[in-house]
Amino acid sequence: MQARGWWCMDKIIIQGGRRLTGSVKASGAKNAALPLLAASILVDGPVVYRRIPHLRDISTMMTLLAWQGADVTYDDQHCLHVDTRPSTKPEAPYDLVKTMRASSLVLGPLLARFGSARVSLPGGCAIGARPIDMHLKGLEAMGAEIEVEQGDIIARVDGRLQGAQIVFDQVTVTGTENLMMAAVLAAGETTLDNAAREPEIVNLADSLRALGARIEGDGSNRITICGVERLQAGEMTTIADRIEAATYLAAGLITGGDVTVTGISPTLLEAFLARVKEAGATVESGDDFIRCAAEKRLKAVDIHTLPHPGFPTDLQAQFMALMTLAEGTSVVRETIFENRFMHVQELARMGAEIRLDGNTAIVTGQSRLQGAQVMATDLRASASLVLAGLAAEGETTISRVYHIDRGYERIEEKLRRLGASVERQSASENWMHGAKLQA
Ligand code: EPU
Repeated sequence: MQARGWWCMDKIIIQGGRRLTGSVKASGAKNAALPLLAASILVDGPVVYRRIPHLRDISTMMTLLAWQGADVTYDDQHCLHVDTRPSTKPEAPYDLVKTMRASSLVLGPLLARFGSARVSLPGGCAIGARPIDMHLKGLEAMGAEIEVEQGDIIARVDGRLQGAQIVFDQVTVTGTENLMMAAVLAAGETTLDNAAREPEIVNLADSLRALGARIEGDGSNRITICGVERLQAGEMTTIADRIEAATYLAAGLITGGDVTVTGISPTLLEAFLARVKEAGATVESGDDFIRCAAEKRLKAVDIHTLPHPGFPTDLQAQFMALMTLAEGTSVVRETIFENRFMHVQELARMGAEIRLDGNTAIVTGQSRLQGAQVMATDLRASASLVLAGLAAEGETTISRVYHIDRGYERIEEKLRRLGASVERQSASENWMHGAKLQA
């Protein structure tokens, strides 16, 4: 990320070593809410959204929809109202796309509704190159003509998009979502093979079905969509954020504590829960809660990341933080993104022993970590530093926390509720602190 405004200079300061106990409520999932919001472009009427988290990425998507001309209002009950009928600009400009790659989720819906779209190409990002070639190939198979001009994707179609048989070369979450949305208003039937099976895909399909879409097979690797003429007004509700929930459960485990997350079904976190159980954690769950407790030091276990239902790449950094204090040596293999180990150097500053070998990290568990000054480099890497800071002796200061704010709603407040000592130092306080030091 390039230099930003003063607000990006916020820091989180943690006094580590407190055992976390108690209960927190899961927020709505960022990665489910973003495609649901993009889907509003397809709807011929207002949509009421429930369980929308207060997050930077959500504000970016709201800004993008409003910029296109939609009426967007957010009340303080995590409820959002969007009506895209007044939208006139089928575009996503660079200034918005560069702050959030998921802005490219509007490409399929814009093309389906307006017959044309101009969406800035998302560049590389910290965790890898992350191209969107499979999204584009799929839209071409549905009859779109696509060119890239001055860094923008320009897509057009004569009349309606046409149903097509699309086989993804590799499993892609937002690619599956983009093409599923495009296919909802296309003429005829579309099949998506080797489709992503993430719960966020099922949430999107359920929501679109409630507005009149005809979709089958979501949650499996073959999704079939039969295009309809229009989607009618209605409601969409976001599922719980499984990554956020697991991060709080890991916060309990890394501090030898006992944390319950409510408002989430354990079926969303099977791979994670299986691994922490294997590591020796006590896991208890009901339809709408998950409890994890560490009655003794965790044992090292190996993970490798995979598309759902495998172990999620979005929890790799947090799991690695847990393993830095486990008994024994753990092998963590990242198979989804080529550069998702940026937390390793920062964890090492806190006393973690981690050796990197290509896409594999070999973590030798230590008996303690020490607080240090560390830097957040991407969203989930930041979460791993928070976890390490909670368990470390002494004070940890995490800078560049704007990464955390993209995906964790009121993180300090939720952690404090569990007994953590966590403060946010805002940029203006940092500045005043600096000024005082110089005086
Ligand atoms: N890929 C391509 N070409 C494409 C699309 C993807 O080569 O056209 C590659 C990617 O570079 C990557 C792999 O395929 O190596 C899988 O990427 P995918 O498309 O599934 O990732 P994404 O859809 O861009 C979503 C989440 C990510 C999460 C991944 C994997 C959203 C908004 N983002 O990204 O979430 O890590 O799926 O599960 O849903 C996060 O929340 O921190 C985050 C990065």
